Amino acid sequence: MTLRRLHFLAAIWTMAWITGLVVATLGVELTGDPAAIALVKRGVLFAIVLLAPVMMTLGWAGRRLAGASRAPGVLRKKRRVLILSGNGVLVLIPCALALDRLASAGEIGWLFYLLKAVLVAAACTNLTLLGLNFRDGLALARGAPAPEAGLAARP
Ligand code: HEM
Repeated sequence: MTLRRLHFLAAIWTMAWITGLVVATLGVELTGDPAAIALVKRGVLFAIVLLAPVMMTLGWAGRRLAGASRAPGVLRKKRRVLILSGNGVLVLIPCALALDRLASAGEIGWLFYLLKAVLVAAACTNLTLLGLNFRDGLALARGAPAPEAGLAARP
């Protein structure tokens, strides 16, 4: 498999996985069943852990493809990856851990829903950043200047 293909597949996988997490975490609320909620919370935790190596591969392949390029599209992609990794380590993982504990203890109260809202917001932020990187990646692969190329200060 070529590096480019690996990068592309890891990008699709990551975006589909995070979308799945958001849908599962919101969807299970419709059941209102505490056991199902606890099961999904445990699943979300494992899913985040399993996603980490795919995201590392995505970033690694992206950096290899970029080489020493200082193109605005490439710099923006690197900046976004920094933000989304920080979001993952500082917000998503701690929230998923706390939600798992609360759900297994049956403590589904205001704190649970607050943390859940933070988790969903962080996941949606990451999905947006991934989407922007996807768009810029397609432009880079076509050899076209990435959209908003003049706005290097934007994330
Ligand atoms: C460190 C971060 C990243 C860097 C430096 C980077 C760099 C690059 C470069 C240079 C290309 C063009 C490759 C070519 O010439 O064919 C590319 C393509 C692409 N990138 Fe990234 N990338 C990064 C992260 C991401 C992320 C997080 C996504 C997630 C959505 C992504 C999605 C894509 C896609 C979809 C393509 C097009 C691949 C193709 O058409 O085959 N990239 N990237």
